[in-house]
Amino acid sequence: MARRVALYAGSFDPLTNGHLDILSRARRLADSVVMAILENDAKEEPLFTVEERIEMIREIVGDDPAIPIRSFSGLLVDFAREVEATLIVRGLRAVSDYEYELQMALMNRRLAPGVETVFLMAKEEYSYVSSRLVKEVARLKGDVTGLVPNSVRLRLQKRF
Ligand code: PNS
Repeated sequence: MARRVALYAGSFDPLTNGHLDILSRARRLADSVVMAILENDAKEEPLFTVEERIEMIREIVGDDPAIPIRSFSGLLVDFAREVEATLIVRGLRAVSDYEYELQMALMNRRLAPGVETVFLMAKEEYSYVSSRLVKEVARLKGDVTGLVPNSVRLRLQKRF
């Protein structure tokens, strides 16, 4: 039987416990989950380089062959084809995520009808956690314990 590959892409700047929760749920749906970091995101200047973000993820998930960690540029659906993913995984938190996510999912479906987007809900305790807020709290010297892995927390402390 064909192996089912899922693609979990994002900025992961930095990785949060919400991301890890989604990753563990995605693992139940697919034989492997490719974690992919977007290179040259035009949205905002990243805090961590792509290499640092890959390192941070690797520190947590290790060298698990079922969770390859990659970076990509260009269209997500093209990268999905490259890694032979048939699922794109997205985490949904609040209703406010929905509109943007729906647009992306429908655009991706138009571009690649064979790739299905699936939305997963993280544990309630992470429903308000975003990389953006974690960075802001860390920058202002607030405590992000429990919101990100400890190794990420230490990197944030060092960075600010
Ligand atoms: O961490 P994010 O911001 O939620 O990740 C967004 C990401 C990387 C999934 C999205 O920006 C993306 O897919 N970028 C690649 C370019 C692309 O395919 N754009 C068209 C999407 S409809």
